[in-house]
Amino acid sequence: MVSKIESAFNEQLNAELFSSYLYLSMAAYFESQNLKGMAQWMRMQVQEENMHAMKFFGFINERGGRVTLGKIKEPKTEWSSPLEVFEDTCQHEAKVTSLVNDLVDLAIKEKDHAANGFLQWFVTEQVEEEATVQEIRDKLKLVSDNPVAMFMIDQELGQRPVPPAPTAQA
Ligand code: FEO
Repeated sequence: MVSKIESAFNEQLNAELFSSYLYLSMAAYFESQNLKGMAQWMRMQVQEENMHAMKFFGFINERGGRVTLGKIKEPKTEWSSPLEVFEDTCQHEAKVTSLVNDLVDLAIKEKDHAANGFLQWFVTEQVEEEATVQEIRDKLKLVSDNPVAMFMIDQELGQRPVPPAPTAQA
């Protein structure tokens, strides 16, 4: 594994762990607002991000690289509404998509076909992640401050199933 790819993948591992930490912070906010379904949805998202991080952990090791863990940035802790949380989530996922795209560009530049193949899972995953959070954001925009509709969205989001266990393989 060339060192440029190794260090970029370690940075992405850190970014995935930050995503997990950010969503855990959002879960804490929802708990504080007694929005248990949204808190549960965010807990599932935390597991999903941990799974993403572990994919990078596995791949770096499989390719003979060295995983080095750095500091995880402090996440935001307060929001003014569920809509603001999901607006932030949309922005965050768009940022992650651009990070993944940059990694693909690097893998192509370095002619690392294995890394490029591995990253294609994330390219597809980001399409799904962005679509899912945009749909929730749009629903929240529609309901505005209607408490009954908010209750129903909270119930719906609480049904999110547990994501698959982490694997080293994409
Ligand atoms: Fe790991 Fe939400 O992207």
